[in-house]
Amino acid sequence: MPETSGQGRATGWCTVRAVSQATTDFRPGLEGVVAVETEIAEPDREGGVLRYRGIDITELVGRYPYENVWGLLVDDNLDSVMPAPEPHEPAGLTGNAPADLQAETARLAGLWTLGKLNEISDEQAREDLGRLSAQMMGIVARSARIADGHTEVIGTDVVARGTTAAEKFLLQWRGEADPRAVKAIDTYWICTAEHGLNASTFTARVAASTGADCGAALSAAVGALSGPLHGGAPAYVKPMLEEVTAMGDPEKWVSDTLDAGKRIMGFGHRIYRAEDPRSRILKETARELGSPQIEIAERLEAAALAELERRHPERPLKTNVEYYSALVLDVAQIPPPLAPAMFACSRVAGWSAHILEQKRTGRLFRPSARYIGPGARSLDDPDA
Ligand code: COA
Repeated sequence: MPETSGQGRATGWCTVRAVSQATTDFRPGLEGVVAVETEIAEPDREGGVLRYRGIDITELVGRYPYENVWGLLVDDNLDSVMPAPEPHEPAGLTGNAPADLQAETARLAGLWTLGKLNEISDEQAREDLGRLSAQMMGIVARSARIADGHTEVIGTDVVARGTTAAEKFLLQWRGEADPRAVKAIDTYWICTAEHGLNASTFTARVAASTGADCGAALSAAVGALSGPLHGGAPAYVKPMLEEVTAMGDPEKWVSDTLDAGKRIMGFGHRIYRAEDPRSRILKETARELGSPQIEIAERLEAAALAELERRHPERPLKTNVEYYSALVLDVAQIPPPLAPAMFACSRVAGWSAHILEQKRTGRLFRPSARYIGPGARSLDDPDA
């Protein structure tokens, strides 16, 4: 790459460097840049298929519960399961689930004296990740319970009655687990358990590449997931559908929204150029579980797809995982603000698998930044 240093153009405070030659290898957002090789998941960009360790996720849903899918992703073994959560008393939960999860996951590293990834064995790291994954679901359930206004904690004997991770989660949160809600959460968690090198997984791998402990790596990933462009879109979908229902005209709503320069949540994806396979599965699940918003969601989807294609013929903007996730989570009566934390619960599998893979094959991440600021100048320079 041509070196730009010393080719600055002096314009007083606005001294800038010549960068025209140097833009070819810079990809904003790292789009299309291959940063790691992975054996964990393969989002088939053109074909609209997502495979975990070679297995199409449509084969997994309804056949294996989430905790076995965790085992498939982390250990490449469907008979290996995420462990049950051990008794633990989280400190100072606020009811803001993503913030609680991020803080408490980091705190567990200290409480459990977790070792640094570059100093512990792969087996030890796998054990740490299993304990943390199970506990992270419990933290979200406890935080959601506080947000509901309940201060008393559900007993461990009640939680232990659950036969799956989704059932235990609901028991810990509400003290009861409706089978439709269990199915909704289990399907959602399987569909969103892993998806290659997205922002949060990349964050987890970057932290792991420094030799940080598993708690720090998972906590960092939670922070990256909490923004609306990655894990938070379902939180916006339900209010959006309510607005469209009140207005009664999906086509007009779409035009007005796009004319105002806003994005329609639940559409577009960095990877998929075809249909997002997870959206297909979740749409079927929403229908099967009797989502009351399925009809308006389908009408809005049709209007949005048509208008997005008209305005962006150069870029396929299809329904993504988060659109129908919102409906499935709504069946389980998950309040929209809890959506990012629900996403984090499912993604503990993918993050754990990537942290282990990073530990085994990785190298410290250290990309470059091209400096495009002012050229060298002195405080004594009269123009400076
Ligand atoms: N609604 C309206 N316009 C959209 C859009 C959406 N959901 N997604 C992308 N676009 C438009 C952008 O405005 C941009 O238009 P411009 O070139 O005229 O400025 C163009 O498409 C490219 O956008 P860009 O942000 O570069 O695309 P991306 O592939 O990097 O974006 C997302 C991927 C997911 C961040 C983006 O599609 C988005 O913001 N979607 C809504 C949030 C969402 O659903 N997130 C969950 C993702 S699983």
